[in-house]
Amino acid sequence: MDHETARTATDAALARAAQLARAWVRGLDAGRVGPTASVAELRDRLGGPLPERAEDPVATIDALAAGAEDGLIRSAGPRFFGFVIGGGLPAAVGADWLASAWDQNAGLYVIGPAAAVAEEVAARWAVELLGLPDGVSAGFTTGATMASFTALAAGRHALLERAGWDVERNGLFGAPDLPVVVGEEAHVTIHVALQMLGMGRDRVTRVPTDGQGRMRADALAEVLSGLDRPALVCAQAGNVNTGAFDPLPEIADLVRANAGWLHVDGAFGLWASADPARRHLLAGVERADSWTTDAHKWLNVPYDSGLVFCAHPSAHHAAMTLGAAYYVETEGGERDPYNWVAESSRRARGFAVWAAIRSLGREGVAAMVGGACDHARRFAEGFAAAPSALGIRVLNDVVLNQVLVRFEDPSGDVAAGDARTSAVIAAIQADGTLWLGGSLWHGQRVMRISVSGWRTTAEDVDRSLATILRSAEAIPPGAIASTPAG
Ligand SMILES: Cc1ncc(COP(=O)(O)O)c(C=O)c1O
Repeated sequence: MDHETARTATDAALARAAQLARAWVRGLDAGRVGPTASVAELRDRLGGPLPERAEDPVATIDALAAGAEDGLIRSAGPRFFGFVIGGGLPAAVGADWLASAWDQNAGLYVIGPAAAVAEEVAARWAVELLGLPDGVSAGFTTGATMASFTALAAGRHALLERAGWDVERNGLFGAPDLPVVVGEEAHVTIHVALQMLGMGRDRVTRVPTDGQGRMRADALAEVLSGLDRPALVCAQAGNVNTGAFDPLPEIADLVRANAGWLHVDGAFGLWASADPARRHLLAGVERADSWTTDAHKWLNVPYDSGLVFCAHPSAHHAAMTLGAAYYVETEGGERDPYNWVAESSRRARGFAVWAAIRSLGREGVAAMVGGACDHARRFAEGFAAAPSALGIRVLNDVVLNQVLVRFEDPSGDVAAGDARTSAVIAAIQADGTLWLGGSLWHGQRVMRISVSGWRTTAEDVDRSLATILRSAEAIPPGAIASTPAG
């Protein structure tokens, strides 16, 4: 293809994609929040045999949009409260588009200098916003799962090095024992990271948690006192269900006394540091050895964007660096992003994080985080004010952006309450005004609300509350027979 044809084709595809993207984003606050197409319809629309011949790129973009749109979920919109999912800030989405158009390989400084420096600066800004110590190292990952993988690899390196073992060279066969301690409520991705690192999902010691899912410091003390060596301890800042924070000051004291490594998974909760009104929740977080967070959750950067920080750059570097002979190492103090994550070639994720933080500024991030917490509280207050005959109960202390709700059955029967809660969630999803999902909390089915998107307003909360209450009214207590287990 000659250059002029390539230029024209790219221009046309980008213009069409921009037109479609703008229409989609303009409609985020209208229409159904959930998808309408079934999996069969999506397979039909997007399927078909392998194309034999080339087609005009604009036709391809049109076919993608036509095939996908009914299967899209307006998770970036103002009334999506499922999982813990943010939207995309305007500057972050724009920067993400540029990251695609610029198509930099952000692995090495030498093949992506601006991408490497944007990461460096965005990491420094994030460290300040999150209240982490100066001088920590940072890596830009696909998400919190890989951020935790990276951090725990650094911890594994450090603890085994102190025990005289080079885990990167020798692996774990024959290595000294390395105790791993996690809270009972650790996010499943911590276990996945441990599994991928050869430390086993099930060989960890689980520390009991309290009614809000916080690790019990007294129980951790007991576990650590029974160990004859330093442990890798994983704490949590922001429980995925309740939003609760582990008692970090006590945990940090205990891990220090054990000479262990403290990792904090703050996939969304770490951003509470950016809000002066909620910073106290993270007291002691700066004493950890490594941290996980996501930019694609509460910072409202498009997927995929996670962050890992480590207070021991040499351990972080040793655990991740590749050092292939043909990699051109920098000599002028430039930072090579590949040294800090488990990837070589990769997307320039730093641009969107840089743009999100620059466009909001310190005050904007604080307002976004604080605003989401206020909205969560508004939900909780709305439920508290609902007629008691509706049997609605908020199960958590709403300290952050998460609200756990149960729709009880008057009999007090757990299975009947589970069935009613599931039915109300299904009715809300079918209505389409908002979208939220369910979870299991202490063995009971619950509805989980997470306010993480930057577009949500108080009106969106009120409109969503009205829909939820209507759905609860339509499925009154006692209306659903529980299905016997088994
Ligand atoms: C506490 C916590 N850790 C880890 C994760 C996983 O994040 P990701 O999906 O970005 O890997 C989540 C997701 O909700 C989370 O809440």
